[in-house]
Amino acid sequence: MPEHTILIVEDERNLRRVMAAWLEEEGFATRAAENAEDALEQFARNGADLVVTDHRLGSGRNGLDLMHALKAEHPDLPVIIVTAYGNVEHAVEAMKAGADHYLTKPVEEADLVALVRNLLNRSGHALPTQQPEQNFGIVGESQAISELLHTVELVAPAPSTVQITGESGTGKELVAHALHTASPRANEPFVAVNCAALPAELIESELFGYEKGAFTGAHQSRPGKFEEAGKGTLFLDEVGEMPLAMQVKLLRALQEREITRLGSHRPQPLNARLVTATNRDLARDAEEGRFREDLYYRLNVIPLHLPPLRDRVEDIPLLARHFLEQFAHQLGRNPPALTGEALSILQSYPWPGNIRELQNVLERTVVMTRGDTIGPDDLPSTLSSPPASGKADFTTHHLPTIERQVVIDAMEKTNWNQSRAAVLLGISRKQLRTKMKNLGLLGSEGDEEPEGGSGSLPSD
Ligand SMILES: Nc1ncnc2c1ncn2[C@@H]1O[C@H](COP(=O)(O)OP(=O)(O)OP(=O)(O)O)[C@@H](O)[C@H]1O
Ligand SMILES: [Mg+2]
Repeated sequence: MPEHTILIVEDERNLRRVMAAWLEEEGFATRAAENAEDALEQFARNGADLVVTDHRLGSGRNGLDLMHALKAEHPDLPVIIVTAYGNVEHAVEAMKAGADHYLTKPVEEADLVALVRNLLNRSGHALPTQQPEQNFGIVGESQAISELLHTVELVAPAPSTVQITGESGTGKELVAHALHTASPRANEPFVAVNCAALPAELIESELFGYEKGAFTGAHQSRPGKFEEAGKGTLFLDEVGEMPLAMQVKLLRALQEREITRLGSHRPQPLNARLVTATNRDLARDAEEGRFREDLYYRLNVIPLHLPPLRDRVEDIPLLARHFLEQFAHQLGRNPPALTGEALSILQSYPWPGNIRELQNVLERTVVMTRGDTIGPDDLPSTLSSPPASGKADFTTHHLPTIERQVVIDAMEKTNWNQSRAAVLLGISRKQLRTKMKNLGLLGSEGDEEPEGGSGSLPSD
């Protein structure tokens, strides 16, 4: 007895049959429909545990309409939308409309089967007690991280190239891994290449491979990283450092979806999904001629940005606990607790090295601390007196000094017109006068603002 029934909705007869055969081979029961109306009728009569539908159905309603109709009654029914090759907009539209996943044509047997299994497990049919996936090791509860996780789920199944940007240490490689793990390619290789670490003259043979005798020293043939990645994911880290000559070759490979080993005339299909990362502003590099513009657009199909840690301090408590547990565990100790004061030091430091720096600081701290709590004194002193950044460093001044400066600035900007300065500061004129009096900015008692708004400069 098959466990699950899949309803396949596809107007192309051959594809419908092929998909049914693949799924039946895996032990699923299938039903087929060629349009939305037919599908709804079948579903009403026989039900199904999962629906795979083409986005475009020959006549009548399309796959999204069908999905809406089905989900209105059965919100938990998993639906996979199949879209035309390269039609990322349709795919994204489908996911936004509530599809559980999408596949692009040509549909690969392995992708379809993996996705169906995955969704049936997740919707609780086969493994109802399975733990919710642990966000691929990405810790955080800021809005930026929630959105990132959502986008990862959304784009992971697509073959489209993803470009991850963010400062050093923000987690770009971790996200590249997540994209792989969340995709139907998870069981295929994940191959990472750091473009900055390879000398210009090696990068081509590294990526494309070579045949014996292709150049001096090529004593035997070797596959390149593209080939090694196979149907998996190729992660090109620090892609902004790739020499211009190599950028041309990469672009050609992506356009033709083919790679050729050095010294060979036999091109091979490029099946890997490409994920790139950079901490540079590649749009600017492209504009200024340091990076090929056509390649930039080719790589930036789906951009993912990781904000710096200082812009998501809400993540610091969870991250700190995560790293404290991790390092204590490695040392066979119980994780120490963090005092509120220590946490607030961690949250006010600007973290130029981002999460990697936080990770290093906490590792050091766990190693050096014997007690079971970490207080301010256990943290490196550099955290409490951060190096001056580009911005004015207000933290070393008393509040009244800052306030005085702000009020003087506002007065100068408005040519010492108290009413307009008050508007600028967002307070009432009366409040401004009180402040000025307290700060010693109003000369004598009752120093009224003259008509026209010009007053005298305060005497210090
Ligand atoms: N949200 C997160 N949750 C848990 N660990 C994280 C998170 N983000 C980053 N890390 C960890 O921080 C370290 C740095 O992350 P990663 O290497 O992915 O950064 P990167 O952006 O690639 O840095 P670089 O630009 O320097 O290569 C890694 O050990 C990673 O596991
Ligand atoms: Mg990295």
